[in-house]
Amino acid sequence: MPKFYVTTPIYYVNDLPHIGHAYTTILADVLARYHRTLGDEVHFLTGTDEHGLKVQQAAQSRNTDPRAHCDEYVVRFQELWRRLHISNDDFIRTTEKRHTAVVQRLLQALHDKGELYQDEYEGWYSVSEERFITKKELDSGEFRQVEKVKERNWFFRMSAYQERLIEHIQEHPEFIQPETRRNEVLGFLRKPLGDLCISRPKSRLTWGVELPFDPDYVNYVWFDALTNYVSAVGYTEDDKRFKDWWPADVHLIGKDILTTHAVYWPTMLMAAGIPLPRTIFAHGWWLMGEEKMSKSLGNVVRPLDLIDLVGVDPVRYYLMRDMVLGQDASFTPEAFERRYNSDLANDLGNLANRIAKFIRRHFEARVPGLKQPADTTFDEALKTGAEEIVRQVPQLISEMRLHEAIEGIMELVRQVNTYLEQTQPWHQIKADKDLAGNSLYHAAEALRIAAQLLHPVMPNRMEAIRRMIGAEKVSLNDFAWGRLRPGTPLGEGEIPFPRLDTLTAASQAEPPEEQPENVVTFDDFQKVDLRVAEVMAAERVAGTDKLLKLGISLGEEERQIVAGIAQHYEPEQLTGRRIVVVANLQPVKIRGEESRGMLLAAEGKDGKLVLATVDDPEMPAGLRIG
Ligand code: MSP
Repeated sequence: MPKFYVTTPIYYVNDLPHIGHAYTTILADVLARYHRTLGDEVHFLTGTDEHGLKVQQAAQSRNTDPRAHCDEYVVRFQELWRRLHISNDDFIRTTEKRHTAVVQRLLQALHDKGELYQDEYEGWYSVSEERFITKKELDSGEFRQVEKVKERNWFFRMSAYQERLIEHIQEHPEFIQPETRRNEVLGFLRKPLGDLCISRPKSRLTWGVELPFDPDYVNYVWFDALTNYVSAVGYTEDDKRFKDWWPADVHLIGKDILTTHAVYWPTMLMAAGIPLPRTIFAHGWWLMGEEKMSKSLGNVVRPLDLIDLVGVDPVRYYLMRDMVLGQDASFTPEAFERRYNSDLANDLGNLANRIAKFIRRHFEARVPGLKQPADTTFDEALKTGAEEIVRQVPQLISEMRLHEAIEGIMELVRQVNTYLEQTQPWHQIKADKDLAGNSLYHAAEALRIAAQLLHPVMPNRMEAIRRMIGAEKVSLNDFAWGRLRPGTPLGEGEIPFPRLDTLTAASQAEPPEEQPENVVTFDDFQKVDLRVAEVMAAERVAGTDKLLKLGISLGEEERQIVAGIAQHYEPEQLTGRRIVVVANLQPVKIRGEESRGMLLAAEGKDGKLVLATVDDPEMPAGLRIG
């Protein structure tokens, strides 16, 4: 039997799972289910990455030991995967003995082969990324919690494998996908590749796998984490099992972790004499609107909220349908609702309903038979359409063109709707009941095939459709036309996709979780655009004694703001002064006057407002304050 071994990244156990993590895991699940449907023997691995400084610190701040902390937190992932109907065959935790033992053996083997050496290293270390960063990265200002670190460490001779890796990538176009990512890696490899620091001194980090040949150090988390892909299938533990599954068919990853997977991992494997995985596939990011989803921006979509609102299958469908594999996609509640209502409620749900209702009403709730000879033009076209997509789906799946496969199946669903408009069984029934039955049979059979093809994406609701139209539960790979048997009773059934009009409103009402109200993150603060502004003109706003209208200059730009300071300042006191404004607030109209920005002030003695002013000549209008 052909084998298919698929993996997801192992997620940081500290993270609160969001829709991005759910995406990779659902994608792996859909691929795993397709391959099972096609008759392959599948091994689907996911898990959690549990060592490293962040975990150690998180445990410390909660006054608990790291192991207990991990045990408590890992459940959030396991529970989510259960709720999302993820069919993983294994869940690996890097703190399990079956994993750490393999990491140590791999380290020892590399050490024995002379692939590891000790050296003094001085560099910039980003605690948040858990890695040393380059001078260029440091200068970019994009890295947080950066410390200068000088220490002795163990290194892996990664540089020795640069040429072999380039050759491998060039000779195996399927190795890194999609092509843009492959080019990115080849670009990266045009510069000399350094060696990889694979240890952390215990003085700085204890929560890790101890180096078997030097107890003063623990293993670098990425080395440890990557090894999960082989430890989980029995490397150095169970040769038969390892040979059965390795090399993996596809490591699914997000584009954020391309270098570790496409450079560190293959060179580690080469050094250890282990074959490389067939494909590393890097998908894009789910953005919230235009921004990357991140906890610090407070804009994460929590999968469980969405599931509670609409059910598991529509979430799975939307994520798979709306991301072109490899590219970024933008999540908005509005797009979700549109997709749901048009594809699932209208096209698919209504169709299933109409067919079941009609058969219940006119054919005693049993699958009607075929009429021979019938007018075959429309029948043939529908059958051909169904057979065509049945042929295409396996190919599209193997090429990772999942959204196209789904779109093709939805095309078949729409074709069934068209077919019913063409044949009009509700008219046929009046003159020729058998002819109407023939049409219903065709519609139901095409729907059965579409539902079966969509089963890996929406396992629960496609099962409901199957029952509704009286299709038997048959063998896995049963896409052949004509399997629906006339005379079979239809199951009871609800509309599997009621329309959804409440999601947008509901999702907007929720405050982000775990953010105490009085705390902002660095990223929150970064969003505020504070500027020095010079007051060019000031006058009272007619009809109120509270508001002043200020014409301000931000250097290159002039604008108006309306401020409630008229009881504290006379207009003429203000002209020519430099104040501080929040420049990126949404414009509003106050008493018919446009106000673009707000000014900074403090409440002084006796409730008097005092403006924050600037008198340093080095701070002209327009300067950004941070
Ligand atoms: N622990 C490492 C991976 C080690 S694998 C040997 C790690 N973990 S993570 O928790 O940060 O998960 C990263 C993965 O989650 C990404 O590679 C991607 O698959 C998924 N996603 C996280 N945020 C995402 C989006 N906003 N959009 C899509 N997927 C993203 O890195």
